[in-house]
Amino acid sequence: MSNHEQHETAHRPVQRKEMSRRQFLSYTLGGTTAFMMGGAVLPMVRFAVDPLLTKKGEGNLVKVVEESRVTAEPQEFKFKIHQIDGWYESEPELVAWISRGNDGKVFALSPVCKHLGCTIFWNTKGHNEYDCPCHDARYSKDGKNLAVANSPLDEYEVVVDNGIVYLGPLVKNTRS
Ligand code: FES
Repeated sequence: MSNHEQHETAHRPVQRKEMSRRQFLSYTLGGTTAFMMGGAVLPMVRFAVDPLLTKKGEGNLVKVVEESRVTAEPQEFKFKIHQIDGWYESEPELVAWISRGNDGKVFALSPVCKHLGCTIFWNTKGHNEYDCPCHDARYSKDGKNLAVANSPLDEYEVVVDNGIVYLGPLVKNTRS
């Protein structure tokens, strides 16, 4: 390239690629639409999957009663649990029959009869047994089925810590 050509090239104005008006409008409108759709759709997506991402199984022990109040004679204690069922949160009230075994250890039984699910009560007939008012099922203090029902009462998982009785999920009876 001669000196003259080099000089001309250096002084030639830089050619910019102009954006057409149509392209500008397409990009602007497209970007704005994408931004607005994202703002509207992302919260819905998060709402839809949120319960699936929530950690489960932590902190499922519930404080129920001071250990000093638990006697050898079964007593009925009510407590509430925080329950999340998909998108629905609730605080149902549960019942446990809590007492001490011969070894002095605290245990807690479910009040749900294993025959057809009625609610059992302690010693309503003076036999030191749990009785079911529906079809006369009977259970020992340990929850062992004595009549009508064909399995023992479920037990709550029990943790005693610092003088407080905490209950966890129901498990199969370990005492009978
Ligand atoms: S439900 Fe308890 S005896 Fe039938």
